[in-house]
Amino acid sequence: MAEIRLEDVAHSYDGGRTWALRPMTWTWRTGRAYALLGPSGCGKTTLLNIVSGLLTPTRGRVWFDDREVTGVPPAGRNIAQVFQFPVLYEQMSVYDNLAFPLRNRGCPRQEVDRRVRRVAGLLGLEEHLRRRSRRLDPGRQQIVALGRGLVRPEVAAVLLDEPLTVVDPAMKWTLRSKLKEIHRDTGHTLIYVTHDQTEALTFADEVVVLNEGEIVQAGEPGELFLSPAHEFVGHFIGSPGMNVLDGAVVDGLVWVGESAVGRASGALPAGPVRIGVRPEFVRITGEEAPSGLSARVTEIDRMGAYDLVHARVNGHPLVTRTEAASAHEPGATAFLRFAEGRAFLFRDAVRCGVVEPLTGGAP
Ligand SMILES: Nc1ncnc2c1ncn2[C@@H]1O[C@H](COP(=O)(O)OP(=O)(O)OP(=O)(O)O)[C@@H](O)[C@H]1O
Ligand SMILES: [Mg+2]
Repeated sequence: MAEIRLEDVAHSYDGGRTWALRPMTWTWRTGRAYALLGPSGCGKTTLLNIVSGLLTPTRGRVWFDDREVTGVPPAGRNIAQVFQFPVLYEQMSVYDNLAFPLRNRGCPRQEVDRRVRRVAGLLGLEEHLRRRSRRLDPGRQQIVALGRGLVRPEVAAVLLDEPLTVVDPAMKWTLRSKLKEIHRDTGHTLIYVTHDQTEALTFADEVVVLNEGEIVQAGEPGELFLSPAHEFVGHFIGSPGMNVLDGAVVDGLVWVGESAVGRASGALPAGPVRIGVRPEFVRITGEEAPSGLSARVTEIDRMGAYDLVHARVNGHPLVTRTEAASAHEPGATAFLRFAEGRAFLFRDAVRCGVVEPLTGGAP
């Protein structure tokens, strides 16, 4: 296991015309399970391949503990990498595929057997050990590929690039919890690439959110949900994502249209801001209140366990999450309040403050 440090790393595939990764300095800490989350094309695979050594970054340096590995190929880095589609020796049995990375490094026979059986047990492969891997369906082959990535205890890191794409959805849940269990067992430094927020949030100790080649926020799942540091995190995580309203700060007050909705934290300079608040933290009532925002209800989605009440505020759509079977009706006027400390201010998509309650009512 190693701590993996990226020092001012950036990558361009076209000689510096465009950048798949913008300069980043970032440390993957020893023994932690990370999810690397972001939309298609944001640079996840590029970043992973720089860690594994398949790619040498255009700029910057890569360190495994205190050893610089920037130009070192994968074979010299002692990592295990699992790709989106199964990479196996098709003629070999499942057992031999799992044993291969261990035998290759001269692991004693009994130890090979013990480790192969342990991983096979955890991944539900025991009854397939003697079968040739090409006889398995693609989903099961991918589980074998996963097992091969996890079988060696002493690797510097395990890198998984969307490893469950070809696996049956029902199986995904099981495998994710198995992976967690194996991680607890081995304490590998693990980086799991995905564009699926549920996958990232349920699996990782820490989620690293990548957008347009930049790490926009990293944190525990709860932190990303409760305290988005970037508008993108607000949108990408949560279902539905964070609402955003255009507003302005004037003399320390936050305005949406004609209504002051709170006070800006800190000493935020006057000017336009965007106000971001998740549907879960907007209270909607029929009664007017100080610092309430007037809105018109446009639509209700009855979700069973809760309702999503859609409204328009000062020309912007906004959605709130309420208890199930709420009394709201399309066309009605309503008033909105933001939960204290849960509405944030953004400039250039980056969080710059919090909406604090007005004391003593609107001026
Ligand atoms: N070999 C390559 N040559 C040129 N451009 C590339 C190459 N690989 C990736 N890119 C570009 O670099 C950017 C980042 O791609 P990357 O594959 O790292 O994204 P990703 O987040 O893994 O996407 P996905 O979720 O679709 O796998 C994209 O704009 C992509 O088109
Ligand atoms: Mg990719």
